[in-house]
Amino acid sequence: MVDLATRYLGLDLRSPIVASASPLNGKPESAKLVEDAGAGAIVLPSLFEEEIVHQEVQLTRALEKGDGAFAEALGYFPEIDTYADVGDSYLDRLETIKMRSEVPVIASLNATAPGKWATYARWLADAGADAVELNLYRLAADPSVPGSAVEDVDIETVAAVREAIDLPLAVKLSPYYSATANFAARIVAAGADGLVLFNHFYQPDLDLETLDVSPRLELSRQWELRLPLRWIAILRPQLGKAVSLAATSGITEGTDVVKALMVGSDVAMMTSAVLRNGPEHIRKVERELRSWLEEHEYESVTQLRGSATSATSSDPSAFERNNYVATLHSWASERV
Ligand SMILES: Cc1cc2nc3c(=O)[nH]c(=O)nc-3n(C[C@H](O)[C@H](O)[C@H](O)COP(=O)(O)O)c2cc1C
Repeated sequence: MVDLATRYLGLDLRSPIVASASPLNGKPESAKLVEDAGAGAIVLPSLFEEEIVHQEVQLTRALEKGDGAFAEALGYFPEIDTYADVGDSYLDRLETIKMRSEVPVIASLNATAPGKWATYARWLADAGADAVELNLYRLAADPSVPGSAVEDVDIETVAAVREAIDLPLAVKLSPYYSATANFAARIVAAGADGLVLFNHFYQPDLDLETLDVSPRLELSRQWELRLPLRWIAILRPQLGKAVSLAATSGITEGTDVVKALMVGSDVAMMTSAVLRNGPEHIRKVERELRSWLEEHEYESVTQLRGSATSATSSDPSAFERNNYVATLHSWASERV
């Protein structure tokens, strides 16, 4: 029997197939189905700062409505400061999912205000998360702010959260940083135990009738795995074995998990394929992974991990350039 066990963020996982942040994982009933289908760990959808602010506004409104005569009482509740006040929400669901799960439960966070990341991360720790994943996404659209300043804010955020909690900490990155290798090293130096590469973003479409933007969520496709594969192959030797790496985007079949592990990932994360096919898809991918490993005479995931890293990493920039030229030429030589 092939050994699928792996370690991620210092946690022992029974399988390298992890259910990445998705609405399915945010509800206790469906999170249980995901776990029962074999996920090695479950990442909850992100707690967004906007949701907490919305709750604060609702609370203030309720107080105003219920007790107008004592408006000064509102001063006692300027904002929600403790995790207990957030009530019937993300943190309750996190507690329930954690109570019912035998696999590690990773909470995810996306805040905006600099001081809030650390506060909310503490709430997640108090609610019982086994680890925290920071979803560092925002759009750098201010022309007066250079890339280095955007990166500095992210580094400060990671350092502040590191300071605030003792839990394992992962940082989920967008692929849009200009110097990914340098930034990844700085994130690790700021205290991250692992990186999740890469988050997937959803560009809104334009509605031609209303001339308005319309949100449009497209699930990702298998070919999108190539970008995380490329970067994990580059980063694994640079960051060393102590740093955890998770591949996310496009993982669809067992062979995708094989590729992710080969370039040095500790886990392969799945959302779109699970949303398309249901939680049972995780079991199918695990079966495919097992058969591939057996056919190729690997005894464990550990034996496979990183076996293809060196093929592309001795001089990544030169490799990338050669590969770029060769890829463009391959189209012309086949078709023109
Ligand atoms: C419906 C949906 C909701 C998602 N919600 C979150 C989220 O709350 N936080 C987050 O970091 N990523 C979120 N993601 C991104 C996924 O966790 C994952 O990184 C991305 O979809 C790429 O992986 P995939 O190709 O397996 O889907 C979401 C994705 C989808 C499709």
